[in-house]
Amino acid sequence: MKTSLNKNQIKILLLENIHPNAEETLQTQGYSNVTQLAHAPPEDELKAMIPEYHLIGIRSRTQITADVLAEANRLVALGCFCIGTNQVDLDSAAQLGIPVFNAPFSNTRSVAELVLAEAILLLRGVPEKSMRMHAGTWTKSAEGAHEIRGKTLGIIGYGNIGGQLSVMAENLGMRVIYYDVEPKLRLGNADPVADLNQLLTTSDIVTLHVPDTPSTRNLIGTAELAAMQAHAVLINASRGGVVDIGALAAALAEKRIGGAAIDVFPQEPKSNAEPFESPLLNAHNTLLTPHIGGSTIEAQANIGIEVAEKLIRFSDNGSTQSAVNFPEVSLPEHVNLHRLLHIHHDVPGVMSEVNATLSSAGINIAGQYLMTRNKIGYVVIDINREYSQDLLTRLKAIKGTLKCRVLF
Ligand code: NAI
Repeated sequence: MKTSLNKNQIKILLLENIHPNAEETLQTQGYSNVTQLAHAPPEDELKAMIPEYHLIGIRSRTQITADVLAEANRLVALGCFCIGTNQVDLDSAAQLGIPVFNAPFSNTRSVAELVLAEAILLLRGVPEKSMRMHAGTWTKSAEGAHEIRGKTLGIIGYGNIGGQLSVMAENLGMRVIYYDVEPKLRLGNADPVADLNQLLTTSDIVTLHVPDTPSTRNLIGTAELAAMQAHAVLINASRGGVVDIGALAAALAEKRIGGAAIDVFPQEPKSNAEPFESPLLNAHNTLLTPHIGGSTIEAQANIGIEVAEKLIRFSDNGSTQSAVNFPEVSLPEHVNLHRLLHIHHDVPGVMSEVNATLSSAGINIAGQYLMTRNKIGYVVIDINREYSQDLLTRLKAIKGTLKCRVLF
């Protein structure tokens, strides 16, 4: 049975050189028992060290498999100090009552800035002119070079990045239109369009900010490129599968569009040691970047703070808001109350047994917050009187219980 520990007894392991902001944030909130390691431990090393830690932070290289989680007796939450969470067996973590957090918004601004810069460079023909300069050719001319002020930016996918970009682009004097499959609040003076075709035919710059899903695979192919205006440019800093790269190479070779900036590719090298191959190598007026849209020092620093704060909120308060694998519960503070966290299989009867157990112990419930997801139930119960160890033992004994602990 887990009960609340003093913050300095909560052992935290941060792996893979996580930005110092993370430890600083934890220390400021009283979590002083932090161990930092620079490397991503292989499975055996991880299995040997994991049992003693209550909170763990990783980046993308540490593999948290079901076997590793099976050793994680004390683990209450896991933080991925990055965007992706493929390196973690999320289902196994959920089945063990362990929420996993990540940092989906920390690099939003970084992507939006790169896209704006690329829009400016493409409309000035800078990629082409720079390549000629490197080859020793001077081509001073204003022909085909445009300001972005007054031009139409067409945003496909008006989520976090699309929305941020929309605001920044309007500040530079652009007209913004957007297309999304979901109804989205228009920011500033941006206008939604009825369909993708309308966006493609009327934009000077088309930029993609959609997730990688079956519905976005090859969203931009031969027909969509043909719908774009001949001078228009395409920017993709979302996911590599969203653009049919062969079709794009053909459209650029035949100068059917004005240029492109591509940051993500259907096949990307797994490390910097592998060569990069693409049909776009000789494409005209094209910027190629190695999936660095979100890769800035500022984004790394934001990630350190964002994930550390989510771990702290869960540890202090039980809040699981924005957990990737877990029922999301956002909670008020529990001043002068004891807070019970009960994580269980979402099967009929568990909640009624939890409540019956509390009522038979004469405990009055001051607040109760329940959410379920992926067959996991998470209930947070505020009680306004002392609880006994016996009560905790009885709650834990309820069939289907995964974890039960108390916050003070
Ligand atoms: P988000 O989830 O906030 O927004 C995505 C938007 O796309 C949503 O509004 C959604 O409704 C919309 N959408 C989904 N399917 C669509 C479709 N078929 N047509 C039109 N709209 C559709 O995501 P966020 O944070 O804005 O990220 C966008 C993309 O950028 C993601 O693919 C993400 O992986 C990628 N990304 C790339 C980075 C890089 O380094 N290049 C860094 C960060 C994110």
